[in-house]
Amino acid sequence: MRAPHRGAPTEIMDDSLPFEYCQVAPLLLAWYGREGRELPWRQTRDPYRIWLSEIMLQQTTVTAVIGYYQRFLGSFPTVEQLAAAPLAAVIDLWAGLGYYARARNLHAAAIMVVEEFAGSFPDTVEELQRLPGVGRSTAGAIAALAFDKQAPILDGNVRRILCRLFALQQPPRSSAAEKQLWRWAEALTPEAQVHDYTQAIMDLGATICLPRKPLCTACPLRELCQARRFGLEQQLPLKQKSKPVPVRRELALLLENAGRYLARRRPASGLLGGLWEFPSYSLAEGQTAAERIVLLAGELAAAGEPVELGTIQHIYSHFRLELKLYRLPVSVFPQVAEVEQEWFSKVELTQLALHGAHKKALDKLLNFGD
Ligand code: ADE
Repeated sequence: MRAPHRGAPTEIMDDSLPFEYCQVAPLLLAWYGREGRELPWRQTRDPYRIWLSEIMLQQTTVTAVIGYYQRFLGSFPTVEQLAAAPLAAVIDLWAGLGYYARARNLHAAAIMVVEEFAGSFPDTVEELQRLPGVGRSTAGAIAALAFDKQAPILDGNVRRILCRLFALQQPPRSSAAEKQLWRWAEALTPEAQVHDYTQAIMDLGATICLPRKPLCTACPLRELCQARRFGLEQQLPLKQKSKPVPVRRELALLLENAGRYLARRRPASGLLGGLWEFPSYSLAEGQTAAERIVLLAGELAAAGEPVELGTIQHIYSHFRLELKLYRLPVSVFPQVAEVEQEWFSKVELTQLALHGAHKKALDKLLNFGD
């Protein structure tokens, strides 16, 4: 803890904090000792295991991650084994966990650790950030959890905690707020017991300082929390104004032949690389899906009438996809050179690493019946 300093909590300060905030780490550590969750990656200091868990836990809940983490380690117990595996095997094991860029980055980072760091993970925040998929907060988490370095983290949960603790009245993603939040995160991180402190603040965000209805009466920081003092805990963090996103319109074909459906793997590089999908086609401005399906049915010498299964909406970071679905019986489908494509039963499709929108398409197909 740095030198004590008094001042209004939300003004932009130097990197010291009002004196009472030196209680944050001890209060959190005592609470963690009583209430901390037992999670598989908390029994280890192995940087490989900690890195793997941190990547899996980015934008994903603990409950969703646990099974994947254990299966992944079963297949790739060491960073060398992960680096030596084909990317497709890594992506297939990731199927269902979402945000597949993480799987590609994971593989690339494993190769970097083996080739550039001789198989040992670096132990500084700066070097850890050189690994693909490792930003400042994940690097801080690995440095703190595996190497007990006094490194702050600022993931979504910690951001919310700090916005409330200091009643920050700015949208938390603005660059001024971002700088301030990092300064607070750094000032609160203790010199000793960094491992437990880091796990504790993560648990506080996941179980007490919840986005919608924070459980303030059970919070170890309730006496220090400015948002609670001013009755602002439901209003903070302030919402970011969202920009309008462009819409892409596509049509996806569930091509059926003797109870099997055709899926293809996307090329390894680029958006959603290495994931599976149903053949899809973008719709030109003003063109309806009904017009396009008639043309496609003709081109593919369809063996029956197309059946409309509905429309999927899927949000990506920079556009919204509106995807019309049709089931179409065919007897053949042209093989495009270098594209991996196969006919799958419905059960096999449920095991496949389909990307999000096409997973929703599969759900429509499964709910539609035969
Ligand atoms: N979220 C991100 N990292 C985590 C961890 N190590 N434990 C629990 N939740 C987390």
